[in-house]
Amino acid sequence: MLVQNKNLTTIWYEQNTDKIKIIDQRFIPFELKIVELNTVDEVCFAIKEMQVRGAPLIGVTAAYGMYIAARKNPDFIYLKNASEKIYSTRPTAVNLGWALNEIMININNVKKENLPNKILELANHIREDDINNCKSIGEHGYKLIKKIYEKNDKPVNILTHCNAGWLAAVDWGTALAPVFVAHKNNIPVHVWVDETRPRNQGFSLTSWELLNENIPNSLIVDNVGGHLMQHKKVDICITGTDRTSSNGDVCNKIGTYLKALAAYDNDIPFYISAPISSIDFNIKNGIRDIPIEKRDSKEVSYIQGLNEDNIIKKVKIVPEGAQCANYAFDVTPAKYITKLITEKGIIDANSSSISKLKN
Ligand code: MRU
Repeated sequence: MLVQNKNLTTIWYEQNTDKIKIIDQRFIPFELKIVELNTVDEVCFAIKEMQVRGAPLIGVTAAYGMYIAARKNPDFIYLKNASEKIYSTRPTAVNLGWALNEIMININNVKKENLPNKILELANHIREDDINNCKSIGEHGYKLIKKIYEKNDKPVNILTHCNAGWLAAVDWGTALAPVFVAHKNNIPVHVWVDETRPRNQGFSLTSWELLNENIPNSLIVDNVGGHLMQHKKVDICITGTDRTSSNGDVCNKIGTYLKALAAYDNDIPFYISAPISSIDFNIKNGIRDIPIEKRDSKEVSYIQGLNEDNIIKKVKIVPEGAQCANYAFDVTPAKYITKLITEKGIIDANSSSISKLKN
């Protein structure tokens, strides 16, 4: 998608230098920094410290991490250890394990000397698939937005939480892909962007993406959505997912559940853009079984911004000695979800529809 009118993706392989490059998302919207990943430790740092984040992008980064590992030592045991190390970086997004598994199951019979090239080929493939799947999600979801526009004949108000735009994937994104496609097809849209404390992915990433694409949007703090819904200022909610269980429970950024409850109470459709790589077919009950990441409490007790001298700074916002709990995700039960928008079409959030997506 566009950044200052130039197309950019979140991660790519540069053939002439043999380098993996990423956008370091920790400094957006204030600074666009491109960095290289050269070692498995750098890949682990990038995922854990959220230079890259968003379920699909975590998966793609992990796949390139395996190429970086194979380039250093194409030994099967070394690769298995590297894969376990990368897997341990973040627990909730299922795409991480999914991508590592895609690599490991496809290298079983590959000769040692061919492993780096084979893994690079697989990682490039995972990246390309992610772009195509997100684009398909955009095209399916666009039809929902178009239908609302045709009915109301006024700009469609979409509420989203966190960042599930292209910065959370490679390009297009998941929840925002239908918005980007609608905008490209001249359907007037306006996006309510939830702040998404503690790391503010809504304010810093989603709004930056939308501004770069010239899509009208308003930033709201996390507790505003319910009020807007009561006053008919939201036509549709669309969010992403980090892991959706086989019964349709959706795990996503903390706060998604409360938005879904408000939408349900106000009869507003609540859609989840879910690439199949975000579905965990092995988990039957999302609330009970999806692991919820608890992150550093400093993400709650500090807030990052630009000071008057244009320097990015973190400032403390709680009393000395305050205890903070930082749960990064929550689970929205399937009954509150209108439907899932997948690359294969729009489906019900229940076991029978989800099981048809398997292979
Ligand atoms: O902690 P993050 O920023 O990695 O969390 C991201 C989200 O929760 C997104 O909404 C989710 O990954 C869907 S991404 C397409």
